[in-house]
Amino acid sequence: MLLLHAIDQDLTSFNTLGLRSHAQAFVRCASAEQAQTLSALAGDYPRVFILGGGSNVVLAPELDCLVIKVETAGVQLLAETADAWIVEAQAGETWHDFVGHCVAQGWNGLENLALIPGTVGAAPVQNIGAYGVELDQRFHSLVAWDMQARRLVEMGPEACGFSYRNSFFKQAEQGRWLILKVRFALPKAWRPVLGYPDLQRHPMLQAAGASVTARQIFDAVCQIRQSKLPDPAVLGNAGSFFKNPVVDAAAYQALVQAHPGLVAYPQSEGSYKLAAGWLIDRAGWKGRRMGAAGVHERQALVLVNYGGAGAGDIAALAEAIRADILARFGVSLEQEPVRVG
Ligand code: EPU
Repeated sequence: MLLLHAIDQDLTSFNTLGLRSHAQAFVRCASAEQAQTLSALAGDYPRVFILGGGSNVVLAPELDCLVIKVETAGVQLLAETADAWIVEAQAGETWHDFVGHCVAQGWNGLENLALIPGTVGAAPVQNIGAYGVELDQRFHSLVAWDMQARRLVEMGPEACGFSYRNSFFKQAEQGRWLILKVRFALPKAWRPVLGYPDLQRHPMLQAAGASVTARQIFDAVCQIRQSKLPDPAVLGNAGSFFKNPVVDAAAYQALVQAHPGLVAYPQSEGSYKLAAGWLIDRAGWKGRRMGAAGVHERQALVLVNYGGAGAGDIAALAEAIRADILARFGVSLEQEPVRVG
């Protein structure tokens, strides 16, 4: 089977931060049947990196690896249980289009995750989440190709090890697990998730009241995201650049006394998740630039590429922010997008 295989591939247009980057080799995976051939090809390179929509990566200028870009397509209703639709999507599907398709079919439950950039296959890797819903709440199982053992593996939620913006795959050896399809269990007895402040104050949702539909939530989430998150097609970015840090109750109490406006969310274990965007904003970083990299003007958690930035520019800005937040608040920020190379 012939795979389209390029040597010294420019990846600038394949990462939403728009960082200058070259891969030693590049191949597109358009069908699950190609997985075996890809494993054989991988043997010729020191490393493998699996790329989806490129919306959660910081790519180094030179990648001494084989990059596999997953482009498999298709969505189907796999099964119907007493209380859920089991919907299966191929990994290369665009996440937002998949969510829109589900809502149009009446398979509700993913609408709060509208407009998140990236592909279906990348979604479980960072356990995407927004507006009160995280992927693991709707996850059923996935099918992956183990590039090393050269076999298909089916994995349920436990095997995927989901936690906040994290999974087994984010910790695992890069390039080993080629996620081919992801299945979701979407509840037939759908209930809207409207607890997030931005949704509570949205006029359309307020007007809809108890008769709110998944389509209305989908539309509202799109509007909110468009109003404060930059479109990667216009201004390079990778969404939230840092995770919201979790601190214990004592640290939270000390912080909120020193900084009364602090935004924090109590967690079930008694700890607190702090809004990193608030900390970075409060420290005066919003809208600041360092060379070609900068902090977005409307969302301090988002770093942007004003044009021509490389991984080094983003790393220098991120490090300056991390050091400042640690010095001011004693809080350590953890980078969210995956570093490659
Ligand atoms: N805030 C500021 N200044 C800022 C940014 C935020 O004061 O510049 C304050 C806001 O006013 C708000 C709080 O911080 O009170 C939280 O901000 P926001 O609601 O915008 O959400 P976030 O915590 O910054 C998280 C996710 C986003 C997700 C939104 C909505 C993380 C790391 N980020 O952002 O996810 O869309 O909630 O649910 O968990 C992503 O992961 O790439 C991403 C965009």
